[in-house]
Amino acid sequence: MKIIHTVKEMQSYADHQKMDGRVLGLVPTMGSLHEGHLSLVRRAKEVANHITVTIFVNPTQFGPNEDFETYPRDFDRDCRLLQEVGGVDVVFAPNTSTFYEGGVEQNKIWITCPEMTRYLCGNSRPGHFDGVLTVVMKLFAACKPHVSIFGLKDIQQYMLLKKMVHDLSLDIKIIGAQTVREPSGLAYSSRNNNLRLQERRQAEVLSHAVTSAVKMIETGQGTPSSVIDIMEETIGSAPLAKLQYAEIVAADTLHPVDEFTPGMQVIAAVSVNFRDIRLIDNAITVVPLA
Ligand code: PAJ
Repeated sequence: MKIIHTVKEMQSYADHQKMDGRVLGLVPTMGSLHEGHLSLVRRAKEVANHITVTIFVNPTQFGPNEDFETYPRDFDRDCRLLQEVGGVDVVFAPNTSTFYEGGVEQNKIWITCPEMTRYLCGNSRPGHFDGVLTVVMKLFAACKPHVSIFGLKDIQQYMLLKKMVHDLSLDIKIIGAQTVREPSGLAYSSRNNNLRLQERRQAEVLSHAVTSAVKMIETGQGTPSSVIDIMEETIGSAPLAKLQYAEIVAADTLHPVDEFTPGMQVIAAVSVNFRDIRLIDNAITVVPLA
């Protein structure tokens, strides 16, 4: 497993692999790897025969009062886990000052999508997705993948990246991978590491909330607003959890749904803070036909 820190080296390595006829798969991460990330690596191995994993805690996607400084980092452990999973050819781990050449302030071009960032995390994290879209574009430029895998746990991120690739005519296939969960239902997240014991127990309410929502929708009970009430009540049962949002949105536009219509694909999504630790979860379902 080769470790590369600079864009130039990464680009020329990727060029050589392409000349040798390899299909390049990419798994972008911010490190502190867990089963969710590893599932993306396994998925990448099914569709590509040269795998790059990127590890970069991207400062431009964190707001001023968010957890950039305390975001968990353990590069050696990450590399060990990737060795164990096997099949990873390159870890691309740039430094902030070289990746954003001359510092973040010197970066003047941003990719933005106001239309799809008005709701869900975009609404409560202004600028977050500009940072995500821009850094992923930079990672694509460095690693030159044919295919890149993203988790559906971050459904808004996944949809925005699909839209970016479409609208900018990038020749890259985006694949979404299912959310991987702990036995309790809690979705794996690097941020779970920073939760205290009580918070971690209470964090199970996120998955309970979206599962309850899906059950209600699939059995034809209630309206979007009554489903949201149940999600909020479920989150409310965890005294340490501070609700950011509980929403029902259309799966194609991410706009809030006022009314369920048969056959409509919807997403139940929640976000909760435990102190400055932000967790999200979602589930996709279809409103029954009759
Ligand atoms: P990070 O939070 O490290 O996540 C990296 C990838 O792992 C994302 O595609 C995310 O959706 C996926 N992932 C996280 N938890 C998962 C889970 N429990 N099951 C399945 N997949 C999961 O998302 C980012 O980093 C950054 O925004 C990034 C895209 C790397 C840009 O900086």
